[in-house]
Amino acid sequence: MRREKRGTRECVPNYFIYSLSLILVLFFSACQKKTAGVIYLDELGVEHVTAGWGESQANKSIDGNPLTISGQVFERGLGTHAESNYRIKLDGKALSFRALVGVDDEIKKTERGAERASVEFILSGGDKAGNKKVLWKSGVMKCGETAQEVNVSLKNLIYLDLTVTDAGDGIGYDHADWCEARIEYRGARPEPVKPYVAEPYILTPPPSPEPKINGPKVLGVRPGSPFLYTIPATGERPMTFEAEGLPGGLKLDGSTGRITGFIDKPGTHDVKLVAKNSLGTAVKMLRIEVGDKICLTPPMGWNSWNCWGCSVTDENVRQSARAMVEKGLINYGWTYINIDDCWHGKRNPKTGEITSNEKFPDMKALADYVHSLGLKIGLYTDCGPKTCAGYEGSENHEEQDIMTYAKWGYDYVKIDWCYCEGKDPRVAYKKFGEAMAKAPRDIVFSICNWGRENPWEWGESVGGNLWRTTGDITDTWASMAGIGFGQAGLSKYAGPGHWNDPDMLVVGKVGWGPQLRPSRLTPDEQYTHISLWCLLAAPLLIGCPIEQLDDFTMGLLTNTEVLEVNQDPLGRQADRVVEGDGYQVWARDLEDGSKAVGLFNLDAYEFKKVKVDFSALGLEGGSYRVRDLWRQKDLGQFSGSFEAEVAPHGVVLVKIVK
Ligand code: GLA
Repeated sequence: MRREKRGTRECVPNYFIYSLSLILVLFFSACQKKTAGVIYLDELGVEHVTAGWGESQANKSIDGNPLTISGQVFERGLGTHAESNYRIKLDGKALSFRALVGVDDEIKKTERGAERASVEFILSGGDKAGNKKVLWKSGVMKCGETAQEVNVSLKNLIYLDLTVTDAGDGIGYDHADWCEARIEYRGARPEPVKPYVAEPYILTPPPSPEPKINGPKVLGVRPGSPFLYTIPATGERPMTFEAEGLPGGLKLDGSTGRITGFIDKPGTHDVKLVAKNSLGTAVKMLRIEVGDKICLTPPMGWNSWNCWGCSVTDENVRQSARAMVEKGLINYGWTYINIDDCWHGKRNPKTGEITSNEKFPDMKALADYVHSLGLKIGLYTDCGPKTCAGYEGSENHEEQDIMTYAKWGYDYVKIDWCYCEGKDPRVAYKKFGEAMAKAPRDIVFSICNWGRENPWEWGESVGGNLWRTTGDITDTWASMAGIGFGQAGLSKYAGPGHWNDPDMLVVGKVGWGPQLRPSRLTPDEQYTHISLWCLLAAPLLIGCPIEQLDDFTMGLLTNTEVLEVNQDPLGRQADRVVEGDGYQVWARDLEDGSKAVGLFNLDAYEFKKVKVDFSALGLEGGSYRVRDLWRQKDLGQFSGSFEAEVAPHGVVLVKIVK
């Protein structure tokens, strides 16, 4: 038996081994054919490509035209827009990435687009050991330059990142093409990686039924101007209000908490506000400064543009105002209801006085209605002959228009910069500032010239209370983060009465027209947005219809400890104190001697530990209490440093207290 078996084994091998080897060779070469090859980016799909504007398209430019760089048309590739990211998963065996890249010719069709577009293409990759390295950079590329060829090795990489940056000058007109882009690979097929997106999660604890007075600790008003302040208090209703130390000329309605009247003389008044319900009593001091400064904390309110765009109507405005009260946002200090572009009608041919169009039958009645709710109201105009949407602008009617708005009862005016190229913004805006100083009511003056000629350097001197520092925001990470983190270096220009404005909020439903959709920012990106704007002492203007607010967005906008950072009376804008590879830490001083600190993870895909040394915050040795502001919970005592694990594109916002 044994021998036979052995014999059998000894006889069979030749045939067996030969045929087995043949089968194996055929099998492996078949397998190799299956797993090796070239894959074009357009075959991977565009679903997970992030773009700073528009939607990325396969084999087309971002605007849907044939991919064209400096006259050369490409059949295949990917059209995108700065800032853009695309991560592709590899298995360490991919061979190379090749492409032709450049700015798409389509922007030549836009006014000055060809001049303004500038991008940089960057390829980077990561290996198994967690190292990330830059593989190639195009340098700054402009419109009209011939496509640059790139051919990089992907040896040992487990992912490849395709990035298009704005080359440091904002994303405007940055249409970028990856043409004939392909990966040669040997192992597994490269696959696109989906950026991290959490389900919406609410961190803000529900308000307590006991009374709590929120809102700013300080308020500025000019002598003789109409005064309107609704004590912002959360807690179960009915609630009654008292105020001790109110200056003469002001009176409080004890059931609504509304303080109205006029104060004649300059001076400072420390008023003790009291709110009571069946569960308890809350007390808060409010300092009223009567002088030439208003807007002592950043304005908080609503603006119609990011939701309704040019389709805004009187009814849209009323609905948001009503909902501000009904949903209780007024109890957190949300105050202004601002109409953006598209309300203007024609001028009265005899007097030159501006009128409203058919969508706004009576501007004064609308202001009266908003005031009757305890809120304030704002509107928009332009320093040129026309507004951005082509309505009547205020050129040559600066003072007349401001006086008309004052007569109607408006409390806030945003002044845009369309059709003003060639003007000196200092001169153009000063005319409005002077008119507002003469107006018989306090008007918050919002300069909106998109950061042209550094308005932070002269905005205050022309009477401005806030000035846009950049172009328009949109609801993408690239836009929001580009603007927000781009505010570094501007802190010294902000303070009580004069604020840098990184544009309005893009949370909730947005759309810039009649069709609304939920903001494209992920939940973590929205926490970053609100945290960063609060750290930056930025004006907070909600850009979604308040009557359509969902619970997640409500949580974002009603966290008293987070809003207190924004409204802190010191008015210090945060600075960037740490800038690392994919993370940043921003911090600001608060009036009580503590620090508000945001630890941000700028990576789209992975959680990151972000650390801040207390020395970077200017804190001496010793131990500090760290409080998580979104969760409203103490995290413990820390010495030397604080570290937190932060979600992709997310934030941990803390207060560090001695
Ligand atoms: C400009 C401004 C926006 C908005 C629109 C209205 O783009 O920057 O904030 O007011 O105009 O047309």
